[in-house]
Amino acid sequence: MSAVSASAAVRSRLNYLKHAGSTPYNYTFDPPDGGPWQNCEYDPREMPIANAREFICAPALDACGFELVDAPTRVRDFGDPRQIEQIYYREMQAAALQATGGREAFVFDHMLRRREPDRRPMTFGRHPDHVQGSTPGPAGRVHNDYTEASGKRRLAAVLGDEASRAVRGRYCIVNVWRSTSGPVLDAPLAVCDGRSVAPQDLVPSEIRYPNRTGEVYLMRHNPAHRWAYFHELETTEAIVFKQFDSVPGPTRFTPHSAFEHPDTPPDAPLRESIETRVLVLF
Ligand code: OGA
Ligand code: FE
Repeated sequence: MSAVSASAAVRSRLNYLKHAGSTPYNYTFDPPDGGPWQNCEYDPREMPIANAREFICAPALDACGFELVDAPTRVRDFGDPRQIEQIYYREMQAAALQATGGREAFVFDHMLRRREPDRRPMTFGRHPDHVQGSTPGPAGRVHNDYTEASGKRRLAAVLGDEASRAVRGRYCIVNVWRSTSGPVLDAPLAVCDGRSVAPQDLVPSEIRYPNRTGEVYLMRHNPAHRWAYFHELETTEAIVFKQFDSVPGPTRFTPHSAFEHPDTPPDAPLRESIETRVLVLF
């Protein structure tokens, strides 16, 4: 009898950027003068996505840009903002320090995501049926949360001008991502090995908020990209992945995206997750 291993590599569609030349943008609110909410076109490509649990050497943050960590939490209700700020932020600060070997860590942001049964499986920044103020769903376009420029700007945004001027050494930004409700069967997170990303694959793109403009990288397709995910990520586990590093090294950015796993059972619980963003000083 043969059985397909549920943990084998899969193939799935990843939404790359079809880059047309001008700076890509998208609005998170109704654009002024009724203009388009985005100018990006996407380039969906089917790519192999390996199960990183099967790697002979466990992936390591400094080598490939991502790592699996044991991260049990004392939070009982992720719907309670006090538990997130008082318990979860401290836990993630410790997790980021342990994974990076850093000296100091500052958790400065988090985002809860929930896939709703009546909404599209993935969001692309914002889409026409987006409901203002609702919980975002899985993010279905390949991106990196910071660019060379916005990663540098984050230092002062988190520490303040004066303290940031005193920083002499290396700093980086990592995300810590986990499920808030059961093992992840639906819309898992794929991460791209930073060593397989060429600088010219990354395209700075604007996210326009009412009071500021943020900058992320979207990514052009390159057959060299090596993608991975962690099969059935448990609620006691988290993925730490690098979003910026002030020091050039093998990996400074880890592009990522949610994807539709071909073996997700139709009755699988819809994905619910939390990601925290952490500035780490060395
Ligand atoms: C992130 C992110 C997408 C998702 O953690 O930075 O983009 O679908 N997550 O969870
Ligand atoms: Fe992201």
